Amino acid sequence: MIIVLIGYMGSGKSTIGKELATALEYSFLDLDDYISDKEKGSISEIFKTKGEIYFRRKETEYLNEVINSSENIVLALGGGTPCYGKNMDLIINNTNVTSFYLKLSIPLLSKRLFTEREKRPLISHLNSETELLEFIGKHLFERNQYYSKSQFTLDTDHKAKQEILEDLVTHLI
Ligand code: S3P
Repeated sequence: MIIVLIGYMGSGKSTIGKELATALEYSFLDLDDYISDKEKGSISEIFKTKGEIYFRRKETEYLNEVINSSENIVLALGGGTPCYGKNMDLIINNTNVTSFYLKLSIPLLSKRLFTEREKRPLISHLNSETELLEFIGKHLFERNQYYSKSQFTLDTDHKAKQEILEDLVTHLI
């Protein structure tokens, strides 16, 4: 089975994903890391040298590669992965895939992302938390239609890691 974690940048997909994989004895894969390895460069470098369209093309290509694996994998997507091409259809139409949207409110995302924005090309230019808050609000409004197609949506506001893990596991039994 492939467990796909979906959510905005900073929603905890990788952190939670690693722990979930350990608990289930699955492999863990972060799609951004996979892309970086294959393309031999960080996500920021790929955006800078080859542009976002190239990145999105590669993202879809590598998602296809990983999603058709017969291994047991917890897969953390990039925040934009579900929102391009037919990526979300690919995820929801695959009977070997269980998808979760890790939902976090805009103020909490903004707080978390402000200090971590340098390595994220889409938000690295935003200079204040207010600007970031506004950006996330608009961005999430567009992206929610894709995220909400996930099989399960977990509200993660003010929840400890352990609690989120338990929530995830409950849906898997
Ligand atoms: C992106 C999210 C990033 C990364 C890229 C674009 C997005 O992944 O794929 O910077 O469009 O939201 P994380 O969600 O892991 O930060």
